[in-house]
Amino acid sequence: MKSKSFDRRKFLAASGAAAGLAGFPAIVRAQGAKIKVGLMLPYTGTFAPLGVAIENGFRLALQEAGGKFAGREIEFFKVDDESDPAKATDNVNKLVTRDKVDMLLGTVHSGVAAGMIRVTKEAGTLHIIPNAGFAPATGPLCAPNIFRTSFSNWQSGYAMGVVMSKRPNVNKVVTLSWRYAAGEESVKGFKDGFLKGAGKSIVKELWIPFPGAEFQALLTEIASIKPDATYSFFAGAGAAKYLKDYAQSGLMKTVPLVGPGFLTDGVLEGLGGVAEGVETALHYGDGIETPKNKAFRLSYAKTYKLQPDVYAVAGYDSGVLYAAGLAAVKGDVSKKGEIIKAMEKAKIDSPRGAWTLSKAHNPVHDNYLRKVRGNENRVTDVAVKALDDDPAMIAACKMPG
Ligand code: PHB
Repeated sequence: MKSKSFDRRKFLAASGAAAGLAGFPAIVRAQGAKIKVGLMLPYTGTFAPLGVAIENGFRLALQEAGGKFAGREIEFFKVDDESDPAKATDNVNKLVTRDKVDMLLGTVHSGVAAGMIRVTKEAGTLHIIPNAGFAPATGPLCAPNIFRTSFSNWQSGYAMGVVMSKRPNVNKVVTLSWRYAAGEESVKGFKDGFLKGAGKSIVKELWIPFPGAEFQALLTEIASIKPDATYSFFAGAGAAKYLKDYAQSGLMKTVPLVGPGFLTDGVLEGLGGVAEGVETALHYGDGIETPKNKAFRLSYAKTYKLQPDVYAVAGYDSGVLYAAGLAAVKGDVSKKGEIIKAMEKAKIDSPRGAWTLSKAHNPVHDNYLRKVRGNENRVTDVAVKALDDDPAMIAACKMPG
């Protein structure tokens, strides 16, 4: 036995030297090389902090797994997508065609995600969306190789709408959001939830192009309308500017501001308390007292000297989900069908609470009501339990196979 294994090693070494990895059986090749993971995220612009948090979260999952998934090291290939839809096709092709990544993680901006999906759907590259809530990704454009670990934009809008539909003193609402897919889908979700209540109406929909942050004229308009509340979708640096301007205009005291949780997640530090009391709905929040969340927060803060937010959670969960897929095939990335099956079945023990994937590959998760207290988005209630996606998107997804 001993000499046989010695011979085998000698053979592998000799033929490897002579023929390179191409001379090895597929399984040897598969387990020798590193797994290639593409990161297509915003590292500049209004969403830059979100991209960084997602990468940090993913790397934390890898660190917790001992630096390897299914025994294999990971090699990262990075592209800054600048949240620019016009550059999406070129950028995604760098990772899919040039670098031939085994899995592509991206992105934040819905318009950029739309461009990515066009390429990954065609190429069949395993694609995990760690933020962009772009509705068609898990609707008419759904595909076996496309997964989302974050949310659809409709979900948190709908959850906030449901909460507001039950408030007797909130009947007339103005919406003000970035005019692109994410803002439009978030407002649709809010309307779907809010207008279920008797006597509720949206008195005005106001829009500003992405990533615009000149809010003054629009805030003056809200002041003149005097609605019972304003619903707004903004995120990242744009959200921080909006919260400051909303407070400075005096509206914070007269017209309560609500939104999806992106409005206040990851932006409170440095705002000097201007967003105190703002209520939002999201699948994550501060003060989720599970052992998993406590451990995650501690570990993230220790590793990055930063507080985690919803974006860090999605990055982390993306790592956990991919690891579950790789474990099922012992790291053999050529078995894509089996990886997908294992990912579909995964129940993610997440800092947000356990969640599962819908048939369309979108998370089904609890949405919490949160209220800003100091630098925290304190969970005050569960807005909607086990929330799936917009029924229209569920119906539109025809998953082949
Ligand atoms: C999106 O473009 O879908 C998007 C961007 C930032 C967020 C949430 C959604 O915080």
